[in-house]
Amino acid sequence: MSPATFERPRILSGMRPTGKLHLGNLVGALQNWVKLQEEYDSFHFVADWHMLTTDYADTSELKENTWQMVADWLAAGLDPTKATFFIQSRLPEHAELHLLFSMVTPLSWLERVPTYKEQLENIKDREINTYGFLGYPLLQAADILMYKAQYVPVGEDQVPHVELTREVARRFNLAFGEVLLKGEEAHAADDPYWDGLATSTGLGALAIGVLTAKDKIRAIKEAFHRAPLDLRAGYLNRGLGRVREIFREPEALLTSSPRLPGTDGRKMSKSYGNAIFLIDAPAVLSKKLAGYMTDPARKRRTDPGDPDVCPVFGLHKIFSAQETIERVNRECRTAEIGCVDCKKLAAGHLNAFLAPIQERRKPYEQNPQRVWDVLEEGTAKARVVAQATMAEVRKAVNLAP
Ligand code: TRP
Ligand code: SF4
Repeated sequence: MSPATFERPRILSGMRPTGKLHLGNLVGALQNWVKLQEEYDSFHFVADWHMLTTDYADTSELKENTWQMVADWLAAGLDPTKATFFIQSRLPEHAELHLLFSMVTPLSWLERVPTYKEQLENIKDREINTYGFLGYPLLQAADILMYKAQYVPVGEDQVPHVELTREVARRFNLAFGEVLLKGEEAHAADDPYWDGLATSTGLGALAIGVLTAKDKIRAIKEAFHRAPLDLRAGYLNRGLGRVREIFREPEALLTSSPRLPGTDGRKMSKSYGNAIFLIDAPAVLSKKLAGYMTDPARKRRTDPGDPDVCPVFGLHKIFSAQETIERVNRECRTAEIGCVDCKKLAAGHLNAFLAPIQERRKPYEQNPQRVWDVLEEGTAKARVVAQATMAEVRKAVNLAP
């Protein structure tokens, strides 16, 4: 491998352990991860603590769901020799960083995250008015910043979380990054320069008894680090210098995922009970397709249909061969093809698509320990990075060594 391998930009993304994955998870996130592992230093993890922020009441399936999900990652082609995958809760460093972030993050930042209010209103069957649920995006910030990931491959809904992560990084750097003054080297011995910088940036006159340029530099730095964070930001904005970065600001790498319709025509989702799973056997698949919603206006075999409003056609467009797509698009409108045959065609293409995925999953099903082994190895790799970050963080915060 070329040395450039070591310089691949890093990405990180997590997935809640919801168990076996469906086609929507595959086209929404997983296929993208599989593609990205060729180009990026990829970290992917099981966000089991995130799961607990909403689903703490019944954890009986957490472990099994973790296994099923990661087996599907492997089945879909995520490759543990290329990407690192790990379990969040096996790395207490994430909790530690989350805690330190909680010290500097204003409550209002968390309260205004769009998913927060939305979910408080929408989730009625569980009590989620908790400390942990409010802190959810901050835990996510810890996940991301721990690995100093440059990009975070996520869907649209997660963009506000990446945005918050950027703000937290800035805030933490401002709180604990050492200030580097503008012209510190060039003006090391130039005392009028330092008086000028202090007054022009709003720090005010330097204390009496501060005589040499060296003392003045020290006095400015001390004044900076004693000031509240919003004042510090003001000094920097007015040209005092910058702070040494502990964390870099990551960017969202938007996954454009086609909307995948489930059996009832709504977006495919496990909780709607309308999903096709990656491990669905051909017979299961045929049955689900037979029950799929079609163009509701096409009541009789002889009625022409409109594929543009038909969920089955939504599947064709993603999983079928081009000629099938064209044929259905044509023959549905003229009632040449009936829904029963059309669904059989879709089932055929889907089966062919899923067969290699299910084949790749078999060795893990035969030896379930292999999934845990992959996770343990990945967790060990992630731990090296997490420990290095935390050593740096503890030092910056001036915690005892
Ligand atoms: N919040 C994400 C979700 O619910 C999961 C997640 C947790 C995540 N930590 C992350 C995604 C870090 C990307 C990066 O889907
Ligand atoms: Fe949908 Fe196919 Fe029936 Fe047309 S023929 S309405 S695309 S299932």
